[in-house]
Amino acid sequence: MKIMIINGPNLNMLGIREPAHYGKETYEDLLNKIRKHADERGVSVEFRQSNHEGDLVDYIQSTYGAFDGIVINPGAYTHTSIAILDAVKAVGVPTCEVHISDVNAREEFRRVSYIRAACVLTVSGHGTDGYLEAMDYLIKRKGNSNL
Ligand code: DQA
Repeated sequence: MKIMIINGPNLNMLGIREPAHYGKETYEDLLNKIRKHADERGVSVEFRQSNHEGDLVDYIQSTYGAFDGIVINPGAYTHTSIAILDAVKAVGVPTCEVHISDVNAREEFRRVSYIRAACVLTVSGHGTDGYLEAMDYLIKRKGNSNL
């Protein structure tokens, strides 16, 4: 099983940006944590990160016919991007939306998620463990086509 892990704008600044919301782990720490989790479960992962909306669309499109699932934290594009929603709909690859912070407990504008409508799962407010939960969900879902 092959999963693409996509991180949007400012997630490369993990560990530096607003630690009260996003914790002290760096982006590299996050990748290592995901790699370890993937190894333990025998799944393969590829990572992408960009601060640019169109790059995120390109990454999503590249999963078509090549990946079994997507775990994506679109960052602030969550709350604005119809293009990212449309890309997920276009490829039809099972996609989980992850937010490190609890987006429902912050500013009003963070409650809106365009991508959510096309996702099989949303995890919000579980820190970086949310990425692992999303991976496990996709792994379980693949083993049980009824999910
Ligand atoms: C985020 C929440 C978004 O509102 C914010 O713009 C981010 C990160 C999170 O992981 O909690 O960049 O997606």
